[in-house]
Amino acid sequence: MDSLQHPTSRYTGFSIGGVAIEAPVGLAPMAGVTDAPFRRLARRLGAAFTVGEMVATRDWLKGVSREAELRAELPGPGPHIVQLVGREPQVMAEAARR
Ligand SMILES: Cc1cc2nc3c(=O)[nH]c(=O)nc-3n(C[C@H](O)[C@H](O)[C@H](O)COP(=O)(O)O)c2cc1C
Repeated sequence: MDSLQHPTSRYTGFSIGGVAIEAPVGLAPMAGVTDAPFRRLARRLGAAFTVGEMVATRDWLKGVSREAELRAELPGPGPHIVQLVGREPQVMAEAARR
């Protein structure tokens, strides 16, 4: 967190899979809104984590979609969360590994 103090002093933090969540607010995924500049701004304003716009797993695996790349771009320090959308567990698992 660079510029804002969080108003609550009771937050003691928690972790997900060993990743520390250092503030009590994060940026939810919003298709058409949470592009890389927006996520960068949210982090600067105190969000502990950000979630990018959703990415279709099939587009991601094809590797042809510049749009999918941009949606998953990871600006600045983490943690970053990528939202993958799909309906076939194996395809989604493969996309998550990329
Ligand atoms: C414009 C807009 C786009 C959203 N896009 C997504 C999305 O792509 N994936 C998702 O899981 N939730 C999406 N959401 C839901 C938000 O992440 C959030 O869960 C929801 O707005 C509830 O929070 P709120 O009560 O503070 O609005 C979207 C919400 C808005 C307003």
